[in-house]
Amino acid sequence: MHKTIAITGKGGVGKTATSALVVRALLDAGEESLLAIDADPNLNFDAALGLKATEFVGCIREEALDRQDDLPAGMTKTEFLTYRAQEALLETDRFDFLAMGRPEGPGCYCYANNVLRHAIDSLAKGYDYLVVDCEAGLEHFSRRTTGDIDVLFVLTDSSLRSADTVFRVMDLVEDLKTHVGKTLVVVTRSDDIPAPILQRAAEHNIEIAGAIPNDPEVRALDDSGQALLNVSDMSTALQAVKGLLGKAGVLKAALV
Ligand SMILES: Nc1ncnc2c1ncn2[C@@H]1O[C@H](COP(=O)(O)OP(=O)(O)OP(=O)(O)O)[C@@H](O)[C@H]1O
Ligand SMILES: [Mg+2]
Repeated sequence: MHKTIAITGKGGVGKTATSALVVRALLDAGEESLLAIDADPNLNFDAALGLKATEFVGCIREEALDRQDDLPAGMTKTEFLTYRAQEALLETDRFDFLAMGRPEGPGCYCYANNVLRHAIDSLAKGYDYLVVDCEAGLEHFSRRTTGDIDVLFVLTDSSLRSADTVFRVMDLVEDLKTHVGKTLVVVTRSDDIPAPILQRAAEHNIEIAGAIPNDPEVRALDDSGQALLNVSDMSTALQAVKGLLGKAGVLKAALV
């Protein structure tokens, strides 16, 4: 069974950067059966990984809907969607990438979503790890387009307002049908966990798993449009992500 690691949090907290560092950490640990999924309609996980997505699962979904009565002979809708999701897959030497693309339009696409989830589930079966860069919020999980999650990173910056959003997300996780194994609440772009956040977390009975430092190398690569996947081994943010994956039981302690 594959492990799904999903990264969520408010807009701009560092979801995409952290997702790219999770991919890098897994690659450094010698894991190569890896599918990276961009579940954010604003699409930038591809660039963070040094790729350019041209096919999107969301568009496939709409195309499949448009072609309800016109599917290739002998193909069920599930088979068609699995086939098209496979076509949208970007393959590299070390990992594969899939972009979800557009979110829901108006109208009820529940059936299509359900079918799409099966298509992605069957595609995911071929991998050991799924790393999902999520849009802000948990809509994808409540729509269940990404399936169950083994490790959910919920990111906050060091402001109390961002942390409060996190605590709301945590309440949501409880209510979701999506099964979540471990949840790691992490403060990003900060060397430590600010005292007001620790205090608020304690009030909510929530543990903060750690912090990812503000790493000038990450910022510099991002600002110059280079792949974050290529941070140096010395990157403090990469080290922190490795530590967190170790804490979550994803990476063996020896590799951290
Ligand atoms: N650990 C870090 N150290 C330094 N800069 C960082 C770090 N993490 C993220 N950043 C920077 O913060 C900015 C926002 O990061 P990112 O794009 O990953 O956030 P996001 O949560 O994915 O945003 P969005 O909600 O728009 O998708 C980027 O400029 C990125 O380079
Ligand atoms: Mg992003």
